[in-house]
Amino acid sequence: MIAWTIVQLLVLVWAIRTLWKYFTASGGNKLGLPEPPGPYGLPVVGYMPFLGSKPHLVFAKLSQKYGDIFQVQLGTQKVVVLNSLDVIKEAYIKDASFAGRPNSASFQIFLKSSSSSFSFRTGNAQWKFLRKIAIKALGLFASSRSSRLEAVVGEANEELHAELEAANSEPFDPQRNIFDCVAGVIGTILFGLDFSSKDTLLKPILSLSQKFVKFFTAGSILDSLPLGPLIMHHKVKDFVESLKPVDALVDRHIAEHLVHCEEEDDVRDVADAVVLAAKQTPNDLKQQLGLTDDRIRCITRDLFGAGFATVMESFRWAINLLAAFPDVQERARRELAEVCGDRPLCLTDRSNIHYNEAVLLEIFRFSSLVTLALPHSTMEDTTLRGYFIPKGTTIFSNLFAHHYNPQYFPDPESFKPDRFLCADGKLDADKAQLVIPFGVGKRRCVGENLARQELSLLVGRLLQKFEIRQDPSNPVNVRDGKTGFTRAPIQTPLIFKKLAL
Ligand code: HEM
Repeated sequence: MIAWTIVQLLVLVWAIRTLWKYFTASGGNKLGLPEPPGPYGLPVVGYMPFLGSKPHLVFAKLSQKYGDIFQVQLGTQKVVVLNSLDVIKEAYIKDASFAGRPNSASFQIFLKSSSSSFSFRTGNAQWKFLRKIAIKALGLFASSRSSRLEAVVGEANEELHAELEAANSEPFDPQRNIFDCVAGVIGTILFGLDFSSKDTLLKPILSLSQKFVKFFTAGSILDSLPLGPLIMHHKVKDFVESLKPVDALVDRHIAEHLVHCEEEDDVRDVADAVVLAAKQTPNDLKQQLGLTDDRIRCITRDLFGAGFATVMESFRWAINLLAAFPDVQERARRELAEVCGDRPLCLTDRSNIHYNEAVLLEIFRFSSLVTLALPHSTMEDTTLRGYFIPKGTTIFSNLFAHHYNPQYFPDPESFKPDRFLCADGKLDADKAQLVIPFGVGKRRCVGENLARQELSLLVGRLLQKFEIRQDPSNPVNVRDGKTGFTRAPIQTPLIFKKLAL
């Protein structure tokens, strides 16, 4: 009976919305342009039931019929999907009106329960200011001249490598060890966290990162139906609860930094840099931008949230792919030996390890970790490729579809780092530019440099010490991933054989 009433209510809401849009559409679209084409869906739920667990693949298929830009109705949410590099660039680089974030239920719930500073907020003047502070603070570690990152990765690696060695070339699942290693790196960069305290700190982070991935899936009931938050009540409650210990943890560390940092010379880590920026921002500017010190300090939370699971999952993809393609692994290791000899890889070596850099690019392309990037939203009525896109439309950029487009990447299903090399064996800069795992334009990832450098060191130094092999009785599956907000690799036990130096 209750279920029937809910269905009736949903049909009523859908009918009212459809009629409202029909009568108001021509008023909004003064240019008389068409909206992007797209498939019909079912009443109320629209195309939502057809997305399945891998929306990026469904969208890629739809683009074969409807073109690089099309729209789908997901419940009450209209979503425009951009499927090619050109159209993504056209929207995100050239047109500031695409720099918003959706007002969806998942984003609102997250923003209300946790004071994310800027990543999940719309692209206004406040966002611009906070983003600038974040980029400057990360610059402490993410410059190629900075040896700080090398030292931090070195320390985290020591523990990881000791754990891998202790497995004694027996197959084992390295997930937890990789988690600890990457948590150690981001913890030190952001807060100067003591590695020895990590076990108690990491449990809530692990639990949240698993829930986060499931909470922000494209086309979820939560975001697509007006009663979504009610229907998904338990999931919402569970997610909100799991945010609390992590927020408390980050807040505690920010509080410690508050008393420490008064001037540039006091800056030890990213939290210090952000705390100092809050102290140095003039009050009239804060007032003008509607900013509080707390909002500025919360930048550190955004960086922690965005910079941890992404690097960890990319590192796992790298390890799995290198195990699956031993020839690639061997060639990369040979190049490292030629360039570095017996010493550990440094960031300044990156300009000389062309093949290793090509391997990293191919890992980014092949894994396409954040398949649909973060959703954007139009901040005002706009046009793209002759189509009208009203204010408040959710936009997905299908990075996966671009990374598997044979026009740019011939034979895209094959793992071929050579595709990024020129005939002389050097990295082809133009081809490298075609890989866009960090998005493009105004909301491009602020942690891109840090992530590229961190992964180059993590992967390169691992290859210098270990041969990574598949367990013959349990081969690696690199053809598939667990899709949610990110496309996580499927982990099977691996063999890490310590190399004789
Ligand atoms: C391999 C690792 C990473 C990948 C693949 C990745 C990918 C992305 C993508 C696709 C976006 C969305 C771009 C868009 O909205 O169009 C993004 C945004 C963002 N990333 Fe990353 N990221 C990674 C690592 C990091 C790291 C290490 C940090 C910081 C420590 C970071 C901080 C952020 C922030 C703050 C945003 C939001 C920017 C904004 O809304 O203005 N990311 N990232």
